[in-house]
Amino acid sequence: MTPQDIAKRAVAAAAVERLVAPGMKLGLGSGSTSEWMVRALGERVRAGLDVVGVATSTGTAALAREVGVRVIELDEAGELDLTLDGADEIDHRFRMIKGGGACLLWEKIVAMASRRMVALVDETKVVETLGAFPLPVEVVRFGWQATRRQIGQILAEHAHVEPRITLRGGEGGPLLTDSGHFLLDCRLGAIPDPPALEAALNRVPGVVENGLFSTVADSMMVGYADGSTRMFGPYASAV
Ligand code: A5P
Repeated sequence: MTPQDIAKRAVAAAAVERLVAPGMKLGLGSGSTSEWMVRALGERVRAGLDVVGVATSTGTAALAREVGVRVIELDEAGELDLTLDGADEIDHRFRMIKGGGACLLWEKIVAMASRRMVALVDETKVVETLGAFPLPVEVVRFGWQATRRQIGQILAEHAHVEPRITLRGGEGGPLLTDSGHFLLDCRLGAIPDPPALEAALNRVPGVVENGLFSTVADSMMVGYADGSTRMFGPYASAV
């Protein structure tokens, strides 16, 4: 395993150990850190823990069932107790870029339906300023090139002159999200005001959602290459 894998596995295991309690309704994230988390959760379920999960992707749903976690639909679950999910970048105010794994829409819906969302990240994901990671924007397929132009205008208004906006997968074989949409990746470098950009992008008619999660996580747990972990946020002293 790489040092990053060690950190991801450590933080996933620590979160399941310290944050998950019997009877919880859990949002289950997507991506490699979340895979470790779902596997650790499966171990606890097989040892007798009673929880249910709502998945943020078809892939996570399949993995959760495979390891023994009962998966239900979000509309069956109602409000969730806790969502555990990874991030592509996170700053010290727990603002994130997500969607590197193409699951941002379901991830945001599930996290927003939870009383708490804790981001699980390895130390390389923690940044001073968001934006080095390309910002994914999920768009409907109809008129996607017109939508891309409008996104370019919004980005220019937010100090991003001539950003590179690419269709994930390329025009020959574009990636489709679990909801059947396209993803546009916007290379910005730095995002000075994440909440303002998040709101502005979502006002473009063809945009379904974007990968800025400015007000979603209430805490983060960070894993380090030596296998240690540390919690940051309002609940840090309780775990
Ligand atoms: C999925 O769409 C993403 O938001 C992931 O949560 C994010 O890419 C983190 O992935 P890793 O845990 O694989 O780094």
